[in-house]
Amino acid sequence: MIIGHGGNIYKLAKDLGVTPAEITDMSSNLNPLGPPEGLMEHLASKLSTIVSLPEVDAGHIKGLLAGKYGISPSTILAGNGTTEFIYAIPRALGTKRALIVGPTYADYRDACEMYGAEADFLVSQKENAFCMDPKDIAEAADGYDTVFLCNPNNPTGTMVAAEEIKAMAESRPDIRFVIDESYLPFACDSYAESTARYGLENVVVLNSMSKVFRIPGLRVGFLIASDALIAEFSKYVLPWSVNAMAQAAVDFILSGGEAIDTFLKETRAYVKEEKDRFVAALEKMPGITPFGAETYFVICELAAPNTAAALWTALAEEAILIRDCTNFIGLEGEFVRFSLKDKETNTRLLALLEKHLR
Ligand SMILES: Cc1ncc(COP(=O)(O)O)c(C=O)c1O
Repeated sequence: MIIGHGGNIYKLAKDLGVTPAEITDMSSNLNPLGPPEGLMEHLASKLSTIVSLPEVDAGHIKGLLAGKYGISPSTILAGNGTTEFIYAIPRALGTKRALIVGPTYADYRDACEMYGAEADFLVSQKENAFCMDPKDIAEAADGYDTVFLCNPNNPTGTMVAAEEIKAMAESRPDIRFVIDESYLPFACDSYAESTARYGLENVVVLNSMSKVFRIPGLRVGFLIASDALIAEFSKYVLPWSVNAMAQAAVDFILSGGEAIDTFLKETRAYVKEEKDRFVAALEKMPGITPFGAETYFVICELAAPNTAAALWTALAEEAILIRDCTNFIGLEGEFVRFSLKDKETNTRLLALLEKHLR
């Protein structure tokens, strides 16, 4: 397991001698508007379900998700967060050489490393605002059996349209493409605009419930792929890997009809407005360059004499946790990532950045 994830509020709280609840976590990418209204009460009413085994393959919630995408439940697996599937990929796909479109989430490489698969990076450049043409990915994939693409990407926030991913995958039927759509619901109607809707034979789509619905503690995510690939993944999925409370939460969310559709629309509207405001304020500040993003996390480059480590420390002393991005492979320079929260907290962060940046 790597130790480079964001969100380690427990360590910072211990160092500062405060409780984790007193830390403002702007390092992990969770929906500031979540969880959806009524979910907590629903879960409280479902506590008694923990005295029985949950449905072994989470079939009910898989059926609900299938309905949302308009696909067959047989093409879906439910697991203990998408993390369960990321670490199953090298075994299920028989990955020997993976190409990871970076800079990106570290676990794809860690999963390859864990199972002895070689992993190389195809790195996007800041001069192109970290955008990557899928045609270039298809071309660079010669000699690789698996390609990982996070869409929208963490930490750069860049996004590729589903039709372009479809064209890329169709141009390379010899390669398996893993498309991590964990952040797609922040950018668009992720059911209507997912790559999963094309039912491509060589594509695996990951869908996390943790981020947009803000239930990372429940650990639930989905994998969507062709029947043939599902058969391979099924060999590595543990029985009951989605616990009873997680299944109850997803049932509430995916049966939520209009209320949840409204929640998702409001999330997208809030994210856009708040991110635009935040980025506009940063653009006027010295020593920092924000990169436009399709998501509510914003990656920024710091200019000397500012460093990511110094800014991290200065904000940590104010009990604010941000992501120092210097350990992202392929990100050369001093980068930090801010995950936006409510307006008041974001405004406080802007004031602190004014104070600390030179
Ligand atoms: C891009 C990406 N994919 C997957 C995950 C894992 O999410 P989960 O296992 O909670 O679904 C994360 C978590 O930060 C992430 O950033």
